[in-house]
Amino acid sequence: MNPTLAQLWERKSVRVFLDRPVDDATRNEIIDAAIQAPSAGNQNLYAIIDVRDQAVKDELAELCDHQPFIATAPVLWVFLADCRRWLGAYQEAGLKPRAPGPGDLLIAYADALVAAQNAVVAAHSLGLGSCYIGDILENRERVAALLNLDDYTVPAAMLVMGWPTEHQLKRPKPPRPARGDLVSVDRYRRRQGRELRASIVARESGAAASFDYDGWMRAFCERKYESDFAREMNRSAAAYLRPFME
Ligand SMILES: Cc1cc2nc3c(=O)[nH]c(=O)nc-3n(C[C@H](O)[C@H](O)[C@H](O)COP(=O)(O)O)c2cc1C
Repeated sequence: MNPTLAQLWERKSVRVFLDRPVDDATRNEIIDAAIQAPSAGNQNLYAIIDVRDQAVKDELAELCDHQPFIATAPVLWVFLADCRRWLGAYQEAGLKPRAPGPGDLLIAYADALVAAQNAVVAAHSLGLGSCYIGDILENRERVAALLNLDDYTVPAAMLVMGWPTEHQLKRPKPPRPARGDLVSVDRYRRRQGRELRASIVARESGAAASFDYDGWMRAFCERKYESDFAREMNRSAAAYLRPFME
């Protein structure tokens, strides 16, 4: 396995950090690597908020489904899908461009996420651990006020980073599905029934007989899909989408 592949396999989310700052040179190296990511039309349709203020970190930890570890991370970056910057640049040229629509948002979202993932890979290569925080999509009104967002800037990803503790480095990485569970040839192949069951059983246990699929699924669905945070995320996301649908 070459070093790049080895690092992709090795990387895992880190949620506990050493009490050691990340210096500006290291931060800049990671941000510059993020900016090297592919980008639709090379427009770099994203913005990065480097959150340094501890009070803002504390508030984000609360707003993102009460995850205290967020506030302890030395680095906290919010990657926004930014449909505002080019609009401003067009207007600067005296143009009267249309308002951004859902396609503009989705492509900016893709731009923001590939840049964020470059940051994750770059950070790992420097020995830093990171974790995405999907809950940044919740509480639109309070997050927008806190981070000075407007109608055309939407959080696509939040990343926390820092130097991992020994325990985090030793923690096993959660298993992934088999390739065949995710890949279809030529057209989407919908998985159903027993095949779905077998895929989860294989991922979670390796030993079909001892694994309580129904019980595990019930608890997981309750904890994730049917949770209060998922409902709040959908409410908040709909509010972010509204200006793009008008
Ligand atoms: C879009 C996205 C959102 C995530 N949100 C959270 C989160 O809010 N809190 C958290 O602790 N981990 C979060 N994670 C990390 C996942 O839990 C983690 O990637 C997954 O369990 C696989 O583990 P690994 O990254 O260690 O391989 C998120 C990951 C992604 C890609």
